[in-house]
Amino acid sequence: MTIDVARLRAGTPGTDRVLHLNHAGSSLMAAATLQAIEAQLRREAEGGSMEAGGAVAAQVEQARADIATLLGADPDEIAFTGGVSDGWGRAFAALRLRPGDKVLVGRTEWGGNLACLERAGLVVEAVPADEHGQISLEALARKLDGQVRLVALTWAPANGGLIQPAAAVGRLVRAAGVPYFIDAAQVVGQMPVDVREVGCDVLAAPARKHLRGPRGVGLLYVRRDFADRLDPAFVDTHSAPIGPDGAVLRAGARRLESAESAPALRLGLGVAVRQALDLGLDRIRATIVQRADGLRARLAAVPGVRLQDLGVERSGLVAFTLDGRSGAEVQATLATQGINLGFNGRAYTPLDMDARGLTEVLRASVSYLTTEAELDRFVAALTALGA
Ligand SMILES: Cc1ncc(COP(=O)(O)O)c(C=O)c1O
Repeated sequence: MTIDVARLRAGTPGTDRVLHLNHAGSSLMAAATLQAIEAQLRREAEGGSMEAGGAVAAQVEQARADIATLLGADPDEIAFTGGVSDGWGRAFAALRLRPGDKVLVGRTEWGGNLACLERAGLVVEAVPADEHGQISLEALARKLDGQVRLVALTWAPANGGLIQPAAAVGRLVRAAGVPYFIDAAQVVGQMPVDVREVGCDVLAAPARKHLRGPRGVGLLYVRRDFADRLDPAFVDTHSAPIGPDGAVLRAGARRLESAESAPALRLGLGVAVRQALDLGLDRIRATIVQRADGLRARLAAVPGVRLQDLGVERSGLVAFTLDGRSGAEVQATLATQGINLGFNGRAYTPLDMDARGLTEVLRASVSYLTTEAELDRFVAALTALGA
């Protein structure tokens, strides 16, 4: 059964206002998600926000349970965060690695994660890519030498359609007994995820990308037994309540949460997650693949366009450059026509950009909401720009 795109677009206020090809940056919220957020903010304004938070506590916990279902985890393994960097950074800091410790990363690792590793004084080694641009499993196996303290993988990068073989990496990393962190910013909500199959200890994702939730909230999976090893860099009354014998770290992923939160955003995330579960991640994935393939085929025929995607399996993020035009210029010109396009410099994926001699890429990222007519309009506008 295919996705009823027309019905979903009718329930998404942004789709008739912009031609949105920046779902990898942040997608368009459904009206139901927006309504859940607005309703909670109104309850806060009219009845007091602490009281309004208490009134929806069970719904927030239901959202946590639905996130667990989405990832193949249990609710106590899920923490709400402020986004990917917030979640990944909290888990990383709680690992308490020491300067000089060795960490392995894929070449497409997110720049923010690399910055955390660098600032902690770690020895960061990038595992070389294979002939498809994916992390080389042979090289990884060789590098897992008993000295490695963490393997960090960005499952799908910000600068192209590549999807890394996260489960195959997980099998090697598990066998070596090394902590395994996954940045799934570009993955959760666009394809099925099963954390047990992937074998990761930590996985971070935002609400705002393919899940189509609000900005400023995210989710973090922490494997139950692994959570015991995490010593948060800072705690509060929620993560380490003080009892008669002093502060006691909460069990599970919640030791990485903060006491203060925005229930409205968590409720919005919950609605978005339920919508993804109802649609089915296999169907979402199949629809996105079809649209992205269609877009790549169209772009390949545009004079001056160079497709920049690597990998065997590809996401809905289509990266390209246009000869003679800067990314900022293309993005700004299309914006005047109501077309939203992403554009990255080096900082998001410095290792991969440097390895490939790229300084910037444009990103047209599709969703299951994207239509063939939108792709035609976008490619016509781009063709006119290049002419
Ligand atoms: C792969 C990847 N990781 C991390 C992030 C950062 O996410 P956040 O802004 O939620 O911290 C992004 C944002 O685009 C991303 O694409």
